[in-house]
Parts: sequence; structure tokens; C-alpha cells
Amino acid sequence: MAMAAHGASASNGPVHYDAQTHVFRIDAKGVSYVFGVNPNGQLQSIYWGSRLGFTDSFPQPHALPGWAAFDPSVNTTPQEFTGWGGGLYTTPDLKITFPDGNRDLVLHYVSHQIDGDRLTVTMQDIERKVFVVLDYKIDEATGILRRSATIENRTGKPFTIEQSFAATWNLPAAGDYHLYDLTGRWTGEWDLQQQALHPGKIVLESRRGPTSHANNPWFAIERGASADQDQGQVWFGALGWSGNWQIAVEQTQARQVRVTGGFNPFDFGYVLAPGESLKTPYFYAGYTRNGVGGASRLLHRFEIAEILPHHPHPGLRPVVYDSWEATGFQVNEAGQEALAEKAASIGVERFIMDDGWFGQRKDDHAGLGDWYPNPQKFPHGLGPLIAKVHSLGMSFGLWVEPEMVNPNSDLYRKHPDWVLHFNGRPRSQERNQLVLNLARPDVKAYVFHTLDSLLTNNRIDFLKWDYNRNWSEPGWPSAGADHEKEVYVKYTRNLYSILQELRARHPHVEIEDCSGGGGRVDLGILRYTDEVWTSDNTDPFDRLSIQNGFTYAYSPGVMMAWVTDSPNWVNQRVTSLTYRFLSSMQGALGIGANLNQWTPQEFVQARTLVAQYKSIRATVQRGALYRLISPLHGSEHSATEYVAPDGKQVAVFAFLHSSQMGYPYPELYLRGLEPGATYRLHMLDGKAAPETPSNASGAYWTNVGIQLALRGDFQAAAFTLEREP
Ligand code: DGJ
Repeated sequence: MAMAAHGASASNGPVHYDAQTHVFRIDAKGVSYVFGVNPNGQLQSIYWGSRLGFTDSFPQPHALPGWAAFDPSVNTTPQEFTGWGGGLYTTPDLKITFPDGNRDLVLHYVSHQIDGDRLTVTMQDIERKVFVVLDYKIDEATGILRRSATIENRTGKPFTIEQSFAATWNLPAAGDYHLYDLTGRWTGEWDLQQQALHPGKIVLESRRGPTSHANNPWFAIERGASADQDQGQVWFGALGWSGNWQIAVEQTQARQVRVTGGFNPFDFGYVLAPGESLKTPYFYAGYTRNGVGGASRLLHRFEIAEILPHHPHPGLRPVVYDSWEATGFQVNEAGQEALAEKAASIGVERFIMDDGWFGQRKDDHAGLGDWYPNPQKFPHGLGPLIAKVHSLGMSFGLWVEPEMVNPNSDLYRKHPDWVLHFNGRPRSQERNQLVLNLARPDVKAYVFHTLDSLLTNNRIDFLKWDYNRNWSEPGWPSAGADHEKEVYVKYTRNLYSILQELRARHPHVEIEDCSGGGGRVDLGILRYTDEVWTSDNTDPFDRLSIQNGFTYAYSPGVMMAWVTDSPNWVNQRVTSLTYRFLSSMQGALGIGANLNQWTPQEFVQARTLVAQYKSIRATVQRGALYRLISPLHGSEHSATEYVAPDGKQVAVFAFLHSSQMGYPYPELYLRGLEPGATYRLHMLDGKAAPETPSNASGAYWTNVGIQLALRGDFQAAAFTLEREP
């Protein structure tokens, strides 16, 4: 093998390279990640699991033997990144077609560079000047690794990339794995699935344009059948990409498990001219011995400290009011001002005017694309409403859907070729709208300038950025036939670039990521947005399982949850105001009810509940989440617990679907407490059983637990434990 120039052979940081054995070791927090260059020049995966001793070392890895003539060694040897070539049958990370018809690509190690918490490893095809630079970055606080690959064309001729993943993660060979993933649909997102892994391939993906409600780019793989949320080995990961994505979970016939993720290869095609490069999305992954609960706590910490805008200290989410469920498209100056006054009276901190304020928007048939205030509804522009909202002490938020256009709009009449389409083919409308082709530089510029002037000319503090359909006919005729498929990469890149530039020019403006609820949530868009609209389903009971699923991948600190009217529009379910509030208080609280119909008593109650939320919001949004009782599988009960980062406050929410046979509510055994510390119980809503102590040790609350006096249908309770100094 040709072993070219090496980087530093030792380092004081988390990345080490042993020049004798050609082994890389990356260590942080509870995790060690080890791979090496084998004598064939392959990057062979060695170990990924609990942290090893400092002096532990590994010999140079050797490729594993093949399995008879049918599985060449390249398939049995776990590798960090493979090209499709040389008899590879497992999922390749990279597949290229060259202009001479050659499609064989065999990548070997060339060199590496260590720079603090980062390692880059360069690979090259055995014959052609195709280079791949693998990038590894470890987060020292959580042990979560970030990986990506950059493909470089130094061949002198263009070639077409047909498949380009960010990374492959290899797990130890074993037969007792379970995969968790999140599926869903509009109003039914974040449905947690669990299945055993068998030899074969499970494909998680979106082919819909955006990330999708249908499947989210997150996975967790648990070893052994652990009945406990917070114990057991779990490998987990998430992609940072808001376009078509794929995560392939493959178990080979030899029981090796490989997880490969990045751009979805379906309909993919990216022409790389000489001198050009293509960078894949980031694929993040981590490991824990603390079960799926521990995996999500690591992810939450990582998102807050490393992903969100303003990390490592993103601001807490304000309590918001949103007009959508109250006034629909029928917004106007007087109506919104009246709602704003009522919202302010209960302690709301941000007022958001949703859909309906612009162009000729009366319903969803017209207006998208024409981002000026509707002159009948807002004869004096947005200024008076914004001033009123500010005078009430709230910030002002505005709904936009900048990537879409209604055919009935000035924009579409002027630029019918600006949408995704194939020449001469129908343009399928969904919700009477088409998708603007953001990959086009002129469309990108239009969208950016429109939003930039909206923010420059109005004192807007927040955008709710919506996206209400998936793609169809994803053509880009003006790009030329060879380049049309680049739309999948360039669209999303331009979206990120618009968001980034807007944030740079308007640093005080916060942005919510929304796509008909949770249709575009991933670690890519979360780098540019401060919060997420979790789901259009605001039924507080359905929300228990929706929010439960959401938090497997994403922090409660970005999970918007509104209190809306009862009966709720989704299921016509009737619930108390307290139940609705406590369901929503498990994330970032909002109100979406029609305040014009509330009784004085409801205002009084809401004011108290909003104040309660503010007293625990830092714990809920930044704390460690423990799922005490799952709401899934028809459970009668469910409960969540949040422990503040400094451990001083604990907030617990408990829900009862319906009492049966007079059984009491099960004891809640708390987690994450200091056994020797004393905690004072304070009931926010509902009652504890009469004999419950008001002060007890962490050991008591953990082992004896707390019994709540919850009975009836759709009941809820909440309490805090405050640690005594
Ligand atoms: C879908 C969003 O999820 C809703 O909250 C609302 O903003 C509507 N779109 C408005 O059209």
C-alpha cells in the first residue's frame, strides 16, 4: 500500500494517531471511537463504545477474510467510507460514473491531519484523481461525533456522483439489536417505532423534497432487550439535512451492523466539474450505556450547546400567542390588536400573526409570493399592529411561507418558470400552491430580498417560516439536462444560505421552523432556526405521544406546544384548561386558543398557569428529561420529569387517560436526584396522596416515589421538587 505523508502522530486533544499501528483513536466523555489504516489501505473500523483506558492500544487492523467466493473481503471488513467498486455489495458511501463509462471506485488512505477536536482523513481512488476528505469532529461534552465527506474532482474531466453519503457507522457484530425510528404524517408526526434488526437493510428516508413528516433522519439502535429507558447500550445518530435524505441500516449476513447516511441516492445526480468539490451533510452520532433515555439527553445537550443559533447559550423560548386556530385567514388590524391585548393580560411574551395578512390572501387559493400587507385588512401597513404589540410589552412575530407560490399571485403571473417543473408536464398543486425553485440564483435572490426588506421596513422580532407541501415534478429545465438533478442539493444549500444571511443582517430576529407542523425538522435547519412547530395536531392528549416521540431526537427546548380550544378540532376531544396547559408546558409554551371566547375565570386560570410555567421553564427547556411512564401503546398513564442543569429544581408532569376499576395512579419513582440531598415538594396542579411528605431525600423520592391523587378522565397534575440548600 502507498502510505503517504502523515499528520501529527500524537496530540493533547481528543484525537490520537499511533504512527506504528496506524490506528486513530478519538475519545470524549464516555466514548471511544477507534479505526485504523489496514495494510490494504482501507480505513477499517475497530471500536465504538464506552471510553477505554488511556494506555489501551490496538494493533494495526487487518482486513477480514471473505466468506467463500461469494462475499469478498471488502464486504466482511467494516470500513469507515467505501466507494462502489472492487466487488462491494454493502451500501457504498460513494458511487461515481466517469465519462469513459468506468464506474469502479476503490478508495484508499492517503494522509490525515489532526487539529484539536478535528481529524481529517484524505482518501483517493487507486487510479484516478478522485479525492475524498473525511471530516471527524468530536463534542467533548457529549462524545457525539460529527462526520462528513467532501468529494473532490482533480481528474481533469467532469464526472457524475450518483450516490454520496456522509459516513458509515459500524456497530459490533451481534444478533440482538433493536432499531428505533420516527415515522408519521401530517397531524401524526413523531410516531416512535421499534423493530428487531435482522440481516438485510432497513431504509429510513425522505424522497419528498423536505425532511418530511413521514420519517425523520434520526435513529437509535439498542443492544439487548432492555426494559429500562435509562439503561443499556445505545448507538444513535441524526442527519443535518433538510432535503431528500437517507439512512440505511444494514445488517450483513455475518451480523455486522452498518449505518450509512447522507443525501438520498434516489434520483440523485451531481455533476462535478474538474476542480469542484461536493460536501455531504453532517451525520452526527453518539453512544451511551444509559439507554434510549440517556441517548436523548445527550442529543438535547448537544443541540443546545452545539447546533442551535446562539449556541452554547440560545435564549429560552418566550411564551407565545399565535392567531392561526383563533382567526385562520381572517386577520385584520382591529381583530389582531384585540387578541394581542388579551394575550398580554395572561403573561404572553410574543404575539404572532399567522397566515392571511398579505397579498390577496382570503383563503389558501391566493397570495403566496406577494409579501405585502393586504390593503383591506391592513390599510396602514403592519406598523400600527406592531406598535400596539410592542406597547403591550410583547415582541411581534409574523408568519411567512417564502418558498411557495400560489398560481393566483402576481409573482407567479410574472415568473411562471420560477417553480419546480418539467417542461410540458402538469404542475401538480397541493393546497393550491407550487414550490419555488430555490436552487435558481434569481429565485434565491428574490426570496432573500423580499424577506430582508420585510424585516428592514417593519419592527418584526420573529418569523414563523412555514412550508406546506412536498415536492412534485422536481424539474429545473433552465439548468440543462445534465444538471437538473442538482436541485436536491442546491435548493437546500440556498435555503440555508438565505436563513444564514437573514440572521446575520437581522441578528435580533428569531425564526421558527414549521412545515405544516413538523415536516422539516432536522439538525440542518436547526442550525438556523430557534424553535420548531412540532405538529398541527394540538389535541393535548395526542400531543403526549407526539411530544414523547419528538423528544427522542430533539430538545423540549425547541418544541413549541400550544394550548388551544376545547373540544379540539382534531378529535373533538374535550379537556380541561389545566390538562391542556400541562400537556403544553412540557415544551415551549404557546397559546393558540380563541381568547375572544374565554370566560373571565379562564383568564384568571391561564394567568396562574403561565406564571407557573415561567417558574419552571428553564428546567423544562434546558434540563435533563426522564420519561417516567410512556404514553405509548394505549397507556392509561404517562409522566415526564425534568431535572434542571444545576440539579436544584425538578419539574414533573403526570397525565391520566381514565381511571379504571378504582385503581390508584401508579407511584412515580423519580430519577436523576442526589440520594443524600433534601428536596421540598411543591404541587403546582393536582394533589399528592394525603400522607406524602413535603420534604424528603432524593433517595426517598427515587425509591418510595410519590403517589398522586389523580382520578377520573383526562386528568393531569404537576409538581416541583426544590433541592434544599
Ligand atoms: C401550517 C402551520 O403548521 C400552521 O400552524 C399554520 O401556520 C398554517 N400552516 C397556516 O397556513
